[in-house]
Amino acid sequence: MLAWSTACARGAPRPVASVTRAPFGTTDRGESVSAYTLKNANGMEARVLDYGGIIVSLRVPDRHGRFDDVVLGYDSLPAYLRASPYFGAIIGRYGNRIAHGRFTLDGKTYTLAKNNGPNHLHGGLKGFDKVVWDVAPFEHPDSVGLVLRYTSRDGEEGYPGTLRTTVTYTLTSANELIFDYSATTDRATPVNLTQHSYFNLAGDGKGDILGHVVTLNADRFTPVDSTLIPTGELKRVAGTPFDFRTPTPIGERIDQDDVQLRYGPGYDHNFVLNKAGDAHDPTFAARVYEPASGRVMEIYTTEPGLLYSGNFLDGTLHGKGGVVYRRRYGFAMETQHYPDSPNKPTFPSTTLRPGESYHSRTIYKFGVQP
Ligand code: BGC
Repeated sequence: MLAWSTACARGAPRPVASVTRAPFGTTDRGESVSAYTLKNANGMEARVLDYGGIIVSLRVPDRHGRFDDVVLGYDSLPAYLRASPYFGAIIGRYGNRIAHGRFTLDGKTYTLAKNNGPNHLHGGLKGFDKVVWDVAPFEHPDSVGLVLRYTSRDGEEGYPGTLRTTVTYTLTSANELIFDYSATTDRATPVNLTQHSYFNLAGDGKGDILGHVVTLNADRFTPVDSTLIPTGELKRVAGTPFDFRTPTPIGERIDQDDVQLRYGPGYDHNFVLNKAGDAHDPTFAARVYEPASGRVMEIYTTEPGLLYSGNFLDGTLHGKGGVVYRRRYGFAMETQHYPDSPNKPTFPSTTLRPGESYHSRTIYKFGVQP
């Protein structure tokens, strides 16, 4: 086991931030997988695999200083290999759906796997969530983290161009988990990277998330068809169950008779984030508050959209410690470009060209409310 530890010499008790590594099993192809534990000076802890960049656990304090794991996932690698709804993983090359597994770029049509009904989802059969990334840990005085690198070859999962991808996970002493994504390509390709952690701020497995109170900085969302492909419209949330501009419990309107909620079923939609100022600075996207524990998660991002979902657990998956993940036991907030952008010329472009570099930053900041 490798260990990197930093003692921050700022008087007693001396806080210690560290990164440690331990084995986590072997893939079907014989690749060894490691788990890295990032710990900050406050005791907040993230456990991350080099397989898929999966966040296996995330321990954060409640309003009494008690730590709980707030993400869903599994205890062992075989469970992740067998059947995971992308628990905690990096999603690429394209987060969310591309209609009919097809897009045309510079006059050439590309065909992708249809792995979600008639559509392509989350990068295909073997997306970035199912590969082993190269990992380099780092420690700085106020942060620890991992630099994850993966090169996706030209033609992989049907996408054009060799894509060199770097994703940096940083855990700061301000209880932030920061994701920095960057990529370059040698041929034009769509790119839309995100992180697919599922949260329950009351603690993993501790009931459904319907009582979580959500605020979204979005005046509009992208309505979908029955296969969850955006129609192209940017619809105002005012007067709909999609209006989270003021703090509202997830469950308050989730079962209303609304055609969009029927398609979800529930919320499985991209919100168009309100943006102001410099596009390179992360802006406020969402706040989630869990009343019993007092835990709060705030999301800031440079991305234009936030895919908010959490309907697809159904009691068939057994997570960490054997807990059964029933319906709506977790929610995901995936910062990203809008679904199906390669087929929607009016949406912000997801095309990356040779000579350009892709950059995206998302911050999850954890705290408590009295
Ligand atoms: C999608 C859901 C999908 C889930 C898979 C989300 O990003 O929006 O429709 O079921 O990922 O885990």
